[in-house]
Amino acid sequence: MRTLTIHTPDDWHLHFRDGDMLLETVPATARCFRRAIAMPNLVPPVTNTQLALEYKARILSAVPEGVTNFEPLVTLYLTNDTTPEEIEKASNAGIVASKLYPAGATTNSDAAVKGIKSLYPVFEAMQKTGMLLLIHGEVTENHIDIFDREKAFIDAYLNDIVSDFPELKVVFEHITTKDASDFVKAQSSFVAATITPQHLLLNRNDLLVGGVKPHNYCLPVLKRNIHQQALQETVASGSPKFFLGTDSAPHEKHKKESACGCAGCYSAWSAIELYAQIFDDLGAIDKLEGFASHYGPDFYGLPRNQTTITLEEKEWTVPDVIALPNVKSSNQSLADEDAIVPFFAGQPLRWKLA
Ligand code: NCD
Ligand code: ZN
Repeated sequence: MRTLTIHTPDDWHLHFRDGDMLLETVPATARCFRRAIAMPNLVPPVTNTQLALEYKARILSAVPEGVTNFEPLVTLYLTNDTTPEEIEKASNAGIVASKLYPAGATTNSDAAVKGIKSLYPVFEAMQKTGMLLLIHGEVTENHIDIFDREKAFIDAYLNDIVSDFPELKVVFEHITTKDASDFVKAQSSFVAATITPQHLLLNRNDLLVGGVKPHNYCLPVLKRNIHQQALQETVASGSPKFFLGTDSAPHEKHKKESACGCAGCYSAWSAIELYAQIFDDLGAIDKLEGFASHYGPDFYGLPRNQTTITLEEKEWTVPDVIALPNVKSSNQSLADEDAIVPFFAGQPLRWKLA
């Protein structure tokens, strides 16, 4: 049996949610990642230092007993009311990144930013304190086709942001296109990107051919296969500008399988295994450790993890459904409101965390 031992990885973009859901999402991620960048798109959103530190405490209280070193990295949700003073306060409190959602871009992003240039004083403060800017890079204008929104964001905003703030660390989150990967490659060492398992594994045929597949629906939406191939080539190249961010984003089953289904793939229970299979299939398994465990902390200016994990080549099947924790003790059949269909449900994977 082939095995693979790598430094313990981190997940640089995911959604833990809040309340009872934390009892599901936090153990799932803590099983293999040491750190995780927790997105702030709660209801209400995490818009200041105090809310962020309270959220961090709630996440920590959901860490399973016996896991001693898991560290959630909470983030601030930028709004038109965010001040440079708040950035300084957050930075002093150890908050390493803030998130920019263009208004309406995705789940719970209504509070987000209208008119990105009005945030320039905030970006200035971030550049000064060394806080990272994490960007959901899609425009939201109705007349722009959903498949073109990432490229349009680069042209309309991102070019300006990176040239106006040359020493602001920018992460272009969950990139989905060749345009985005080419853009990041052409930038200085202050610009990097995360890539999800779903955008490496799938293209828009996997969403739409043979019927709509709601569990493959995420934002930014899956793109055509030439973009998927460009992302695959990018990670296989081993460039340190690209690192792991699952965008694991749970929604209850009935909210995905709906006339207006939510965007998001819940990949936490198979995340490192999915990436291992992808890299292996690309003939680039030797590049997995850099992507999963080294380039993220290097870019964030944080230490690499000293511990290791081991993956074994051994077939297993991703479960069809996961019961939410508050109903695990019930013996009635599982209601859709109490269940999550994980990403890659019912499908075999070749690698498993030992
Ligand atoms: C995320 C969510 O559900 O919070 N959904 C998604 O499809 N990725 C939001 C996001 O990261 O865009
Ligand atoms: Zn996300």
